[in-house]
Amino acid sequence: MDRLDASTKLMIVSDLDLTMVDHDDNHNTSLLKFNALWEAYYRRDSLLVFSTGRSPTSYRKLREERPLLTPDITVMSVGTEIAYGESMVPDEEWERFLNRNWNRDLVMEETLKFPELKPQSEAEQRPHKVSFFVEKNKAPQVVNAVSERLEKRGLDVKVLYSSGIALDVLPKRAGKGEALAYLLKKFESDRKAPTNVLVCGDSGNDTDLFSVPNVYGVMVSNAQEELLQWYVDNAKDNPKVIHASERCAGGIIEAIGSFQLGPNLSPRDIIDSKGCCKVETIDPCFEVVKFYVLYERWRRGEVEKSELYLEYLKSIFPAGGIAVDANGKERSREELIDGMRGLYGDMKATPFRTWLDGLSSAQVGSNSWLLRFNKWESSSSSSRSSSSWLSGNQFLGCFTTVLMSSQSKVSEGGLMWMHVQHTWLDGSPSEPQHNTCFI
Ligand code: GLC
Ligand code: MG
Repeated sequence: MDRLDASTKLMIVSDLDLTMVDHDDNHNTSLLKFNALWEAYYRRDSLLVFSTGRSPTSYRKLREERPLLTPDITVMSVGTEIAYGESMVPDEEWERFLNRNWNRDLVMEETLKFPELKPQSEAEQRPHKVSFFVEKNKAPQVVNAVSERLEKRGLDVKVLYSSGIALDVLPKRAGKGEALAYLLKKFESDRKAPTNVLVCGDSGNDTDLFSVPNVYGVMVSNAQEELLQWYVDNAKDNPKVIHASERCAGGIIEAIGSFQLGPNLSPRDIIDSKGCCKVETIDPCFEVVKFYVLYERWRRGEVEKSELYLEYLKSIFPAGGIAVDANGKERSREELIDGMRGLYGDMKATPFRTWLDGLSSAQVGSNSWLLRFNKWESSSSSSRSSSSWLSGNQFLGCFTTVLMSSQSKVSEGGLMWMHVQHTWLDGSPSEPQHNTCFI
């Protein structure tokens, strides 16, 4: 399929609150669609960057509440902190760079003189970010006055106003856009510049992202007034920036389509009520993502209960294959299929969801692939509708490896799952979980 062209190299740089994450949708519908799209088609050769105003602490909290993927790079505290990989290795060079002509104490001293500025919590105050709340009607005048005052004291600062409430003071060299420009420059010097960059945002601290030269940009449909106004004043003739008609992650997917940056049909949108997939391809990454979407729908009772699904399982698990669940129990193909038959609809009317993260695939033979990924399931025990999404970490995860093999005769199509092995992430769960990471 041409959509699977391995040369697709996209770098998505997205804000989180009300861009990647829709706080008005406790079901995380569009976020989960994005996740499936990313893992199926982009994870292998593209870069995911989250660029948030949140401090490391509140970013971690959001990760516990919402099904966010692990980004390749995390830019936090409004472009003042950059961290790489899953283990979040900080970019100390960037922090040193921001020190020039920055004096936090002086910023504190001067901002104290503005009674309109209400300090944000201690956790949001960072080495290169001083943050306040200020009422919307006072904001334009306060932004100007604070900038002027700090300039007079000889500081190069940037004052940003976001979401009609938050005011941040940063070094002028900081910000989401500057952090992105710094990353792009780094990639260029390593000859690893991405083919396309798409920036995504909804509020004032995202304006910087849209100022980076040559990037595509999407302001999600629910973008804040201050960003839309900035666009009208500064970028409305830029054909590379759109105001999406979809909210949040739905707007990001829409932009991928409208700028033709690669596949834009999420595996979550191609399965019909019978559990049939409207797109057929023999791509291992796509296959595994589709498999777990179908598994979720089966357990939620959202596809018809028909033998078709069990036939599908039979067709992909060979009789001699091996499946080891996260408790170390090996199951035969019959046990797997009987087990799945019994799980139909067991998660009906619950917030149960499954998603994959960090999927990688390596071809290990002429017709076999080894896939690795983290598989997450949201709380299975809860039937308290959407509230479980909001009360701390309800996710259980396992690290999974799958050895897949395509059948010798191409005409037979399909990929067989020869060996599946799950291992609990973060140690075993405190209570025995028989149905999580079972398949
Ligand atoms: C996030 C941060 C906050 C900041 C705001 C706008 O909400 O937590 O500190 O002021 O973004 O940048
Ligand atoms: Mg936002």
